[in-house]
Amino acid sequence: MKNTIKGLVIVMLAGTLIYACNDETTTPSAMAPSSLKYEPNSIRTEEGVAVVSEAPSVDGTTPITYSITTSPDAGSKITIDKNSGVVSASAAVTGTYKVSVTATNEAGSKEFADALTIEVKEKAKITFKANIQPAIANSCKPCHVAGGGNTTYTEFAKASAGVDGILNRVNRAEGTAGFMPFGGSKLDAATLALIEQWKTDGLLEE
Ligand code: HEC
Repeated sequence: MKNTIKGLVIVMLAGTLIYACNDETTTPSAMAPSSLKYEPNSIRTEEGVAVVSEAPSVDGTTPITYSITTSPDAGSKITIDKNSGVVSASAAVTGTYKVSVTATNEAGSKEFADALTIEVKEKAKITFKANIQPAIANSCKPCHVAGGGNTTYTEFAKASAGVDGILNRVNRAEGTAGFMPFGGSKLDAATLALIEQWKTDGLLEE
């Protein structure tokens, strides 16, 4: 009789244990995403250069997926990889954007406002006063400056009207007919690119 009671108690205890174990495996306690951080949390770049962030650090039960909103709205120019949380800004973007990231897992979704700032500086435009006039004064003297006897390309009106002729002459092979600077050596690549960019930027005076 005593053994029967002992046996019953053991069976009941075992049952309780099995119940307890089952309880843990059927309702795992998933942790919602928290403490999401980008390091660094701000990226600065210049217009025309695409950038990507680091992957964020985050606590919470995996897998976690990510989505973003940007302020102001950058549309498809700023995107997030939904599995890694890496944010990409395309080369077409300019301005400053606050990126808010929503992290989602089985326990729910959490938004991390302004988790990342992306600042894309507009490229400085080439202007006659700042860039072209000094280059011409330096490379085309003494012939094309005031009192030089040839077209005064240190004057904005003449240089902007004559930009195609200038580009044509300075891009000829050194020493060939019509090459400028007359009797001199070819402008360096940076100066040639500068004149080209001045035209592309719209022949700004200043
Ligand atoms: C040593 C003098 C001399 C220098 C330096 C010189 N030029 Fe000239 N340039 C001339 C002469 C002379 C002519 C006219 C003959 C001809 O068209 O080739 C001329 C003509 C030109 C023309 C054709 C249209 C026009 O205005 O007559 C352009 C464009 C020009 N030069 C651009 C330049 C530029 C840009 C530089 C500097 C990078 C330069 N030149 C440097 C003497 C010079």
